[in-house]
Amino acid sequence: MSLTAGQAAGRFRTWHGAEPEGVWHAPGRVNLIGEHTDYNNGWVLPFALDRGVVAAASRRGDDVLDIRSLQSGGPAVVPLPGLRPGGVTGWAAYPAGVAWAMREAGLPVGGASLVIDSDLPQGAGLSSSAAIECAVAIALADLYGADVPRTELAALARRAENEMVGVPSGIMDQSASLLCEAGHALLLDCRSGQSTRVPFDPAAAGLALLVVDTGARHALTDGRYAQRRAECEQAARALGVPSLRDVADPARTAAIGDPVLARRARHVVSDNCRVLAAVDLLGAGDVAGLGPLLHDSHASLRDDFEVSWPQADVAADAAERGGALGARMVGGGFGGSVIALVPADDAAVRAAVRAAYAGRGWAPPTFLDAPPSAGARRILLILTPPPHPSSPDPTTPPKTFWPRGSRGRGRPRTRARSGTWQSPRTRRRSRANSPICGAPSTPSPRSA
Ligand code: GLA
Repeated sequence: MSLTAGQAAGRFRTWHGAEPEGVWHAPGRVNLIGEHTDYNNGWVLPFALDRGVVAAASRRGDDVLDIRSLQSGGPAVVPLPGLRPGGVTGWAAYPAGVAWAMREAGLPVGGASLVIDSDLPQGAGLSSSAAIECAVAIALADLYGADVPRTELAALARRAENEMVGVPSGIMDQSASLLCEAGHALLLDCRSGQSTRVPFDPAAAGLALLVVDTGARHALTDGRYAQRRAECEQAARALGVPSLRDVADPARTAAIGDPVLARRARHVVSDNCRVLAAVDLLGAGDVAGLGPLLHDSHASLRDDFEVSWPQADVAADAAERGGALGARMVGGGFGGSVIALVPADDAAVRAAVRAAYAGRGWAPPTFLDAPPSAGARRILLILTPPPHPSSPDPTTPPKTFWPRGSRGRGRPRTRARSGTWQSPRTRRRSRANSPICGAPSTPSPRSA
Protein backbone atom coordinates (compact mmCIF):
# COMPACT_ATOMS: atom_id res chain seq x y z
CA MET A 1 0.00 0.00 0.00
CA SER A 2 1.68 3.20 -1.13
CA LEU A 3 -0.90 5.41 0.61
CA THR A 4 -0.19 6.21 4.21
CA ALA A 5 -2.38 7.48 6.99
CA GLY A 6 0.32 10.00 7.84
CA GLN A 7 0.18 11.64 4.42
CA ALA A 8 -3.58 11.99 4.48
CA ALA A 9 -3.53 13.23 8.07
CA GLY A 10 -0.79 15.72 7.16
CA ARG A 11 -2.84 17.12 4.30
CA PHE A 12 -5.88 17.28 6.57
CA ARG A 13 -3.82 19.35 9.06
CA THR A 14 -2.71 21.70 6.31
CA TRP A 15 -6.21 22.25 4.96
CA HIS A 16 -8.21 22.20 8.18
CA GLY A 17 -5.68 23.42 10.76
CA ALA A 18 -6.39 20.45 13.03
CA GLU A 19 -5.74 16.74 13.36
CA PRO A 20 -8.35 14.45 11.82
CA GLU A 21 -10.15 12.21 14.27
CA GLY A 22 -9.05 9.22 12.25
CA VAL A 23 -7.99 7.85 8.87
CA TRP A 24 -9.75 5.00 7.07
CA HIS A 25 -8.70 2.88 4.11
CA ALA A 26 -10.92 1.05 1.62
CA PRO A 27 -9.36 -1.06 -1.12
CA GLY A 28 -10.11 -1.38 -4.79
CA ARG A 29 -10.89 -4.86 -6.07
CA VAL A 30 -10.16 -7.33 -8.77
CA ASN A 31 -12.93 -9.70 -9.68
CA LEU A 32 -11.41 -13.11 -10.24
CA ILE A 33 -14.43 -14.28 -12.19
CA GLY A 34 -18.16 -13.65 -12.58
CA GLU A 35 -18.61 -10.44 -14.56
CA HIS A 36 -22.00 -8.75 -15.04
CA THR A 37 -23.48 -11.50 -12.90
CA ASP A 38 -24.08 -9.45 -9.75
CA TYR A 39 -27.09 -7.48 -10.99
CA ASN A 40 -28.47 -10.73 -12.38
CA ASN A 41 -28.64 -12.12 -8.82
CA GLY A 42 -25.74 -14.45 -9.55
CA TRP A 43 -22.32 -15.15 -8.05
CA VAL A 44 -19.08 -13.18 -8.08
CA LEU A 45 -15.60 -13.94 -6.72
CA PRO A 46 -13.68 -10.72 -6.12
CA PHE A 47 -10.67 -10.07 -3.92
CA ALA A 48 -9.31 -6.83 -2.49
CA LEU A 49 -6.25 -5.08 -3.88
CA ASP A 50 -3.48 -3.61 -1.76
CA ARG A 51 -4.36 -0.24 -3.30
CA GLY A 52 -7.33 1.92 -2.56
CA VAL A 53 -8.58 5.13 -1.03
CA VAL A 54 -7.83 6.74 2.32
CA ALA A 55 -10.17 9.20 3.99
CA ALA A 56 -8.90 11.39 6.81
CA ALA A 57 -11.97 12.68 8.60
CA SER A 58 -13.40 14.58 11.53
CA ARG A 59 -16.91 15.38 12.61
CA ARG A 60 -18.26 18.89 12.17
CA GLY A 61 -21.06 20.49 14.07
CA ASP A 62 -22.71 22.25 11.15
CA ASP A 63 -24.28 19.39 9.09
CA VAL A 64 -22.00 20.20 6.18
CA LEU A 65 -19.64 17.91 4.29
CA ASP A 66 -16.38 19.61 3.36
CA ILE A 67 -14.79 17.20 0.90
CA ARG A 68 -11.34 17.61 -0.59
CA SER A 69 -9.49 15.18 -2.79
CA LEU A 70 -5.81 15.10 -3.63
CA GLN A 71 -6.75 13.84 -7.09
CA SER A 72 -9.83 15.84 -7.96
CA GLY A 73 -9.31 19.21 -6.32
CA GLY A 74 -12.06 20.84 -4.35
CA PRO A 75 -13.27 21.62 -1.89
CA ALA A 76 -16.84 20.55 -2.41
CA VAL A 77 -19.02 21.97 0.35
CA VAL A 78 -22.29 20.09 0.64
CA PRO A 79 -25.00 20.97 3.18
CA LEU A 80 -26.60 17.69 4.23
CA PRO A 81 -30.12 18.88 5.10
CA GLY A 82 -32.21 18.86 1.96
CA LEU A 83 -29.60 16.94 -0.05
CA ARG A 84 -31.27 14.97 -2.87
CA PRO A 85 -30.12 12.91 -5.87
CA GLY A 86 -29.05 15.39 -8.51
CA GLY A 87 -28.01 17.89 -5.84
CA VAL A 88 -24.32 17.09 -6.28
CA THR A 89 -22.59 16.07 -9.49
CA GLY A 90 -19.04 15.05 -10.41
CA TRP A 91 -16.60 13.29 -8.06
CA ALA A 92 -18.18 14.77 -4.91
CA ALA A 93 -21.42 12.86 -5.65
CA TYR A 94 -19.73 9.64 -4.42
CA PRO A 95 -18.89 10.78 -0.86
CA ALA A 96 -21.94 13.03 -0.60
CA GLY A 97 -24.14 10.20 -1.85
CA VAL A 98 -22.88 7.96 0.92
CA ALA A 99 -23.76 10.49 3.64
CA TRP A 100 -27.16 10.99 1.99
CA ALA A 101 -27.86 7.22 1.83
CA MET A 102 -26.81 6.71 5.45
CA ARG A 103 -29.09 9.51 6.63
CA GLU A 104 -31.93 8.19 4.46
CA ALA A 105 -31.49 4.87 6.30
CA GLY A 106 -31.96 6.69 9.59
CA LEU A 107 -28.34 6.48 10.68
CA PRO A 108 -27.09 9.27 12.95
CA VAL A 109 -24.69 10.83 10.47
CA GLY A 110 -23.86 14.55 10.55
CA GLY A 111 -21.33 16.86 8.98
CA ALA A 112 -17.72 15.94 8.39
CA SER A 113 -14.50 17.29 6.98
CA LEU A 114 -13.01 14.72 4.64
CA VAL A 115 -9.66 14.58 2.85
CA ILE A 116 -9.51 11.81 0.28
CA ASP A 117 -6.38 10.35 -1.29
CA SER A 118 -6.13 7.42 -3.70
CA ASP A 119 -3.48 5.24 -5.30
CA LEU A 120 -5.97 3.51 -7.60
CA PRO A 121 -5.96 4.50 -11.25
CA GLN A 122 -9.37 5.96 -12.13
CA GLY A 123 -11.42 4.34 -14.87
CA ALA A 124 -9.18 1.25 -14.77
CA GLY A 125 -11.96 -1.16 -13.78
CA LEU A 126 -10.51 -1.58 -10.28
CA SER A 127 -13.41 0.03 -8.37
CA SER A 128 -11.91 3.38 -7.53
CA SER A 129 -15.46 4.75 -7.12
CA ALA A 130 -16.55 2.05 -4.69
CA ALA A 131 -13.33 2.53 -2.72
CA ILE A 132 -14.20 6.21 -2.21
CA GLU A 133 -17.73 5.29 -1.17
CA CYS A 134 -16.58 2.61 1.26
CA ALA A 135 -13.80 4.68 2.83
CA VAL A 136 -16.30 7.47 3.48
CA ALA A 137 -18.96 5.01 4.68
CA ILE A 138 -16.77 3.41 7.35
CA ALA A 139 -15.37 6.80 8.36
CA LEU A 140 -18.84 8.26 8.89
CA ALA A 141 -20.14 5.11 10.59
CA ASP A 142 -17.21 5.06 13.00
CA LEU A 143 -17.19 8.81 13.65
CA TYR A 144 -20.89 8.87 14.47
CA GLY A 145 -21.08 5.46 16.16
CA ALA A 146 -23.54 4.13 13.59
CA ASP A 147 -23.71 0.44 14.40
CA VAL A 148 -24.38 -0.99 10.98
CA PRO A 149 -23.27 -4.37 9.62
CA ARG A 150 -20.90 -4.20 6.72
CA THR A 151 -23.32 -5.93 4.38
CA GLU A 152 -25.77 -3.09 5.01
CA LEU A 153 -23.06 -0.48 4.65
CA ALA A 154 -22.26 -2.02 1.25
CA ALA A 155 -25.92 -1.71 0.26
CA LEU A 156 -25.95 1.96 1.30
CA ALA A 157 -22.76 2.71 -0.64
CA ARG A 158 -24.32 1.03 -3.65
CA ARG A 159 -27.46 3.13 -3.21
CA ALA A 160 -25.25 6.22 -3.31
CA GLU A 161 -23.82 5.09 -6.64
CA ASN A 162 -27.20 4.04 -8.07
CA GLU A 163 -29.18 7.09 -7.03
CA MET A 164 -26.78 9.97 -6.41
CA VAL A 165 -24.29 9.15 -9.20
CA GLY A 166 -26.84 7.51 -11.48
CA VAL A 167 -25.02 4.26 -12.34
CA PRO A 168 -27.22 1.14 -11.96
CA SER A 169 -24.32 -0.96 -10.69
CA GLY A 170 -24.61 -4.21 -8.77
CA ILE A 171 -23.44 -4.95 -5.24
CA MET A 172 -20.07 -6.55 -6.04
CA ASP A 173 -17.65 -3.65 -5.76
CA GLN A 174 -18.85 -2.27 -2.44
CA SER A 175 -19.11 -5.78 -0.96
CA ALA A 176 -15.57 -6.60 -2.05
CA SER A 177 -14.16 -3.43 -0.57
CA LEU A 178 -15.94 -3.89 2.75
CA LEU A 179 -15.95 -7.67 3.22
CA CYS A 180 -12.76 -9.07 1.70
CA GLU A 181 -9.94 -10.46 3.79
CA ALA A 182 -6.24 -10.86 3.06
CA GLY A 183 -5.34 -14.17 1.42
CA HIS A 184 -8.94 -14.79 0.39
CA ALA A 185 -11.38 -14.19 -2.41
CA LEU A 186 -15.00 -13.53 -1.51
CA LEU A 187 -17.71 -15.75 -2.95
CA LEU A 188 -20.77 -13.55 -2.93
CA ASP A 189 -24.24 -14.84 -3.66
CA CYS A 190 -25.84 -11.66 -4.94
CA ARG A 191 -29.36 -12.96 -4.41
CA SER A 192 -29.15 -14.02 -0.77
CA GLY A 193 -26.33 -11.64 0.13
CA GLN A 194 -24.47 -14.51 1.72
CA SER A 195 -20.70 -14.21 1.47
CA THR A 196 -18.08 -16.88 1.94
CA ARG A 197 -14.35 -16.40 2.25
CA VAL A 198 -12.43 -18.66 -0.09
CA PRO A 199 -8.69 -19.08 0.56
CA PHE A 200 -6.82 -17.78 -2.46
CA ASP A 201 -3.03 -17.89 -2.34
CA PRO A 202 -1.55 -17.87 -5.83
CA ALA A 203 1.97 -17.38 -4.40
CA ALA A 204 1.79 -20.76 -2.64
CA ALA A 205 1.19 -22.33 -6.05
CA GLY A 206 4.17 -20.49 -7.57
CA LEU A 207 1.78 -18.14 -9.34
CA ALA A 208 0.59 -14.55 -9.14
CA LEU A 209 -2.28 -12.41 -10.34
CA LEU A 210 -1.02 -9.62 -12.55
CA VAL A 211 -3.16 -6.61 -13.42
CA VAL A 212 -2.55 -5.00 -16.78
CA ASP A 213 -3.98 -1.50 -16.88
CA THR A 214 -4.64 -1.35 -20.61
CA GLY A 215 -4.60 2.44 -20.66
CA ALA A 216 -8.10 2.65 -22.17
CA ARG A 217 -10.44 4.40 -19.74
CA HIS A 218 -14.03 3.51 -19.04
CA ALA A 219 -16.94 5.35 -17.49
CA LEU A 220 -19.94 3.38 -16.29
CA THR A 221 -21.96 6.58 -16.60
CA ASP A 222 -21.88 6.50 -20.40
CA GLY A 223 -25.03 4.37 -20.72
CA ARG A 224 -23.56 1.17 -22.15
CA TYR A 225 -23.44 -0.54 -18.75
CA ALA A 226 -27.09 0.39 -18.18
CA GLN A 227 -27.94 -0.96 -21.62
CA ARG A 228 -26.39 -4.35 -20.81
CA ARG A 229 -28.36 -4.47 -17.59
CA ALA A 230 -31.59 -3.75 -19.45
CA GLU A 231 -30.79 -6.44 -22.03
CA CYS A 232 -30.30 -8.99 -19.24
CA GLU A 233 -33.69 -8.11 -17.78
CA GLN A 234 -35.30 -8.53 -21.21
CA ALA A 235 -33.55 -11.89 -21.65
CA ALA A 236 -34.84 -13.10 -18.28
CA ARG A 237 -38.37 -12.04 -19.24
CA ALA A 238 -38.04 -13.91 -22.54
CA LEU A 239 -37.12 -17.05 -20.62
CA GLY A 240 -39.91 -16.55 -18.10
CA VAL A 241 -37.59 -16.41 -15.08
CA PRO A 242 -37.22 -13.70 -12.41
CA SER A 243 -33.53 -13.30 -13.21
CA LEU A 244 -30.82 -15.00 -15.24
CA ARG A 245 -29.56 -16.55 -12.00
CA ASP A 246 -32.50 -18.92 -12.32
CA VAL A 247 -31.17 -20.44 -15.51
CA ALA A 248 -28.86 -23.39 -14.86
CA ASP A 249 -27.78 -24.47 -18.30
CA PRO A 250 -26.18 -22.04 -20.76
CA ALA A 251 -27.74 -24.06 -23.61
CA ARG A 252 -31.21 -22.98 -22.46
CA THR A 253 -30.48 -19.43 -23.56
CA ALA A 254 -30.73 -20.58 -27.19
CA ALA A 255 -34.52 -20.54 -26.69
CA ILE A 256 -34.45 -16.72 -26.70
CA GLY A 257 -35.59 -15.54 -30.11
CA ASP A 258 -33.52 -12.37 -30.24
CA PRO A 259 -29.93 -13.44 -31.00
CA VAL A 260 -28.36 -10.49 -29.17
CA LEU A 261 -30.35 -11.15 -26.00
CA ALA A 262 -29.54 -14.87 -26.30
CA ARG A 263 -25.82 -14.10 -26.35
CA ARG A 264 -26.07 -11.71 -23.43
CA ALA A 265 -27.88 -14.37 -21.41
CA ARG A 266 -25.42 -17.08 -22.42
CA HIS A 267 -22.57 -15.01 -21.04
CA VAL A 268 -24.28 -14.45 -17.69
CA VAL A 269 -25.34 -18.07 -17.24
CA SER A 270 -21.97 -19.48 -18.28
CA ASP A 271 -20.01 -17.01 -16.11
CA ASN A 272 -22.12 -18.01 -13.12
CA CYS A 273 -21.07 -21.59 -13.81
CA ARG A 274 -17.45 -20.50 -14.06
CA VAL A 275 -17.60 -18.82 -10.64
CA LEU A 276 -18.79 -22.02 -9.02
CA ALA A 277 -16.21 -24.05 -10.92
CA ALA A 278 -13.49 -21.65 -9.77
CA VAL A 279 -14.54 -22.05 -6.14
CA ASP A 280 -14.38 -25.83 -6.46
CA LEU A 281 -10.90 -25.59 -8.01
CA LEU A 282 -9.66 -23.35 -5.22
CA GLY A 283 -11.15 -25.76 -2.69
CA ALA A 284 -9.15 -28.53 -4.27
CA GLY A 285 -5.99 -26.41 -4.16
CA ASP A 286 -5.85 -26.15 -7.95
CA VAL A 287 -5.07 -22.48 -8.52
CA ALA A 288 -3.56 -23.23 -11.92
CA GLY A 289 -6.89 -24.73 -12.99
CA LEU A 290 -8.34 -21.20 -12.99
CA GLY A 291 -6.43 -20.41 -16.18
CA PRO A 292 -8.87 -21.93 -18.69
CA LEU A 293 -11.81 -20.39 -16.82
CA LEU A 294 -10.26 -16.93 -17.14
CA HIS A 295 -9.69 -17.54 -20.84
CA ASP A 296 -13.27 -18.68 -21.41
CA SER A 297 -14.67 -15.79 -19.41
CA HIS A 298 -12.80 -13.29 -21.56
CA ALA A 299 -14.04 -14.93 -24.76
CA SER A 300 -17.59 -14.81 -23.44
CA LEU A 301 -17.32 -11.14 -22.43
CA ARG A 302 -15.81 -10.31 -25.80
CA ASP A 303 -18.07 -12.30 -28.10
CA ASP A 304 -21.34 -12.75 -26.22
CA PHE A 305 -21.58 -9.79 -23.87
CA GLU A 306 -19.54 -7.46 -26.11
CA VAL A 307 -18.03 -5.34 -23.37
CA SER A 308 -14.40 -5.98 -24.21
CA TRP A 309 -12.26 -3.40 -26.00
CA PRO A 310 -9.32 -3.72 -28.43
CA GLN A 311 -6.53 -3.18 -25.89
CA ALA A 312 -8.04 -5.81 -23.57
CA ASP A 313 -8.26 -8.39 -26.34
CA VAL A 314 -4.66 -7.74 -27.35
CA ALA A 315 -3.36 -7.73 -23.76
CA ALA A 316 -5.20 -10.94 -22.79
CA ASP A 317 -4.05 -12.74 -25.90
CA ALA A 318 -0.45 -11.55 -25.61
CA ALA A 319 -0.32 -12.44 -21.91
CA GLU A 320 -1.40 -16.00 -22.69
CA ARG A 321 1.09 -16.28 -25.53
CA GLY A 322 3.76 -15.01 -23.11
CA GLY A 323 3.04 -17.77 -20.60
CA ALA A 324 -0.01 -16.69 -18.60
CA LEU A 325 -2.27 -19.61 -17.70
CA GLY A 326 -5.29 -17.48 -18.53
CA ALA A 327 -6.24 -13.83 -18.83
CA ARG A 328 -9.41 -11.80 -19.02
CA MET A 329 -10.83 -8.30 -18.78
CA VAL A 330 -12.18 -7.24 -15.37
CA GLY A 331 -15.01 -4.99 -14.29
CA GLY A 332 -17.77 -3.40 -16.28
CA GLY A 333 -15.81 -3.22 -19.53
CA PHE A 334 -15.38 -0.76 -22.41
CA GLY A 335 -11.97 0.14 -20.96
CA GLY A 336 -9.93 -0.60 -17.87
CA SER A 337 -7.80 -3.58 -16.92
CA VAL A 338 -7.01 -7.18 -17.72
CA ILE A 339 -5.97 -9.76 -15.13
CA ALA A 340 -3.60 -12.57 -15.94
CA LEU A 341 -2.75 -15.66 -13.90
CA VAL A 342 1.00 -15.77 -14.34
CA PRO A 343 4.06 -17.68 -13.13
CA ALA A 344 5.78 -16.00 -10.17
CA ASP A 345 8.47 -14.91 -12.61
CA ASP A 346 6.23 -13.03 -15.02
CA ALA A 347 8.92 -11.22 -17.03
CA ALA A 348 8.00 -13.09 -20.24
CA VAL A 349 4.32 -12.21 -19.84
CA ARG A 350 5.05 -8.54 -19.33
CA ALA A 351 7.44 -8.53 -22.29
CA ALA A 352 4.84 -10.18 -24.54
CA VAL A 353 2.18 -7.62 -23.64
CA ARG A 354 4.59 -4.70 -24.07
CA ALA A 355 5.66 -6.04 -27.45
CA ALA A 356 2.07 -6.48 -28.62
CA TYR A 357 1.34 -2.89 -27.65
CA ALA A 358 4.50 -1.55 -29.26
CA GLY A 359 3.65 -3.44 -32.47
CA ARG A 360 0.42 -1.47 -32.70
CA GLY A 361 2.01 1.83 -31.83
CA TRP A 362 0.17 2.03 -28.50
CA ALA A 363 1.62 3.66 -25.38
CA PRO A 364 2.94 0.95 -23.02
CA PRO A 365 0.48 -0.53 -20.52
CA THR A 366 0.98 -0.34 -16.76
CA PHE A 367 1.41 -3.47 -14.65
CA LEU A 368 0.20 -3.79 -11.06
CA ASP A 369 0.76 -6.67 -8.68
CA ALA A 370 -2.44 -7.92 -7.12
CA PRO A 371 -1.92 -9.87 -3.88
CA PRO A 372 -5.28 -10.71 -2.27
CA SER A 373 -5.44 -8.08 0.47
CA ALA A 374 -7.48 -6.85 3.42
CA GLY A 375 -10.85 -5.13 3.22
CA ALA A 376 -11.75 -1.67 4.47
CA ARG A 377 -10.51 -0.66 7.91
CA ARG A 378 -9.50 2.23 10.08
CA ILE A 379 -5.75 2.74 9.79
CA LEU A 380 -5.22 5.62 12.18
CA LEU A 381 -7.01 6.80 15.28
CA ILE A 382 -6.15 10.09 16.89
CA LEU A 383 -7.12 9.23 20.43
CA THR A 384 -7.57 12.72 21.85
CA PRO A 385 -8.91 14.85 19.06
CA PRO A 386 -8.66 18.57 19.67
CA PRO A 387 -11.78 20.69 19.31
CA HIS A 388 -12.55 21.15 15.67
CA PRO A 389 -12.32 24.77 14.54
CA SER A 390 -15.67 24.53 12.79
CA SER A 391 -17.41 22.99 15.77
CA PRO A 392 -20.21 25.24 17.06
CA ASP A 393 -18.72 25.00 20.54
CA PRO A 394 -14.98 24.57 20.20
CA THR A 395 -14.55 24.19 23.93
CA THR A 396 -16.49 20.94 23.81
CA PRO A 397 -14.54 18.44 21.73
CA PRO A 398 -16.04 15.01 21.17
CA LYS A 399 -15.60 13.10 24.42
CA THR A 400 -14.99 9.64 23.10
CA PHE A 401 -14.11 8.40 19.69
CA TRP A 402 -16.33 5.35 20.02
CA PRO A 403 -19.52 6.73 21.48
CA ARG A 404 -20.81 3.38 22.70
CA GLY A 405 -17.95 2.42 24.97
CA SER A 406 -14.78 0.41 24.72
CA ARG A 407 -16.05 -2.39 22.50
CA GLY A 408 -14.92 -0.64 19.36
CA ARG A 409 -11.58 0.59 20.62
CA GLY A 410 -8.81 -0.64 18.40
CA ARG A 411 -11.03 -1.93 15.63
CA PRO A 412 -14.13 -0.86 13.75
CA ARG A 413 -17.36 -1.95 15.40
CA THR A 414 -18.91 -3.01 12.17
CA ARG A 415 -17.82 -6.49 11.25
CA ALA A 416 -18.03 -8.58 8.15
CA ARG A 417 -20.66 -11.30 8.29
CA SER A 418 -18.94 -13.76 6.08
CA GLY A 419 -19.14 -17.47 6.37
CA THR A 420 -16.12 -19.70 6.26
CA TRP A 421 -15.23 -21.82 3.35
CA GLN A 422 -16.45 -25.41 3.28
CA SER A 423 -15.16 -28.29 1.26
CA PRO A 424 -16.65 -28.45 -2.24
CA ARG A 425 -18.64 -31.54 -1.30
CA THR A 426 -20.19 -29.93 1.79
CA ARG A 427 -20.89 -26.76 -0.09
CA ARG A 428 -22.45 -28.62 -3.01
CA ARG A 429 -24.82 -30.31 -0.58
CA SER A 430 -25.83 -26.98 0.94
CA ARG A 431 -26.07 -25.05 -2.30
CA ALA A 432 -29.78 -25.45 -2.67
CA ASN A 433 -30.08 -22.51 -4.99
CA SER A 434 -27.26 -23.34 -7.33
CA PRO A 435 -27.78 -24.07 -10.95
CA ILE A 436 -26.49 -27.36 -12.22
CA CYS A 437 -24.25 -25.93 -14.85
CA GLY A 438 -24.24 -27.43 -18.27
CA ALA A 439 -21.30 -27.46 -20.60
CA PRO A 440 -19.39 -24.20 -20.73
CA SER A 441 -20.21 -21.86 -23.56
CA THR A 442 -18.45 -22.74 -26.73
CA PRO A 443 -14.87 -21.54 -26.31
CA SER A 444 -14.22 -18.84 -28.85
CA PRO A 445 -10.98 -18.50 -30.73
CA ARG A 446 -8.57 -15.98 -29.35
CA SER A 447 -8.39 -12.64 -30.98
CA ALA A 448 -5.74 -12.44 -33.64
C1 GLA B 1 -18.98 -2.70 -12.37
C2 GLA B 1 -20.15 -2.65 -11.41
C3 GLA B 1 -20.34 -3.99 -10.71
C4 GLA B 1 -20.39 -5.14 -11.70
C5 GLA B 1 -19.22 -5.05 -12.68
C6 GLA B 1 -19.32 -6.08 -13.77
O1 GLA B 1 -17.78 -2.87 -11.66
O2 GLA B 1 -19.94 -1.64 -10.45
O3 GLA B 1 -21.50 -3.95 -9.92
O4 GLA B 1 -21.62 -5.18 -12.37
O5 GLA B 1 -19.14 -3.77 -13.29
O6 GLA B 1 -19.20 -7.35 -13.25
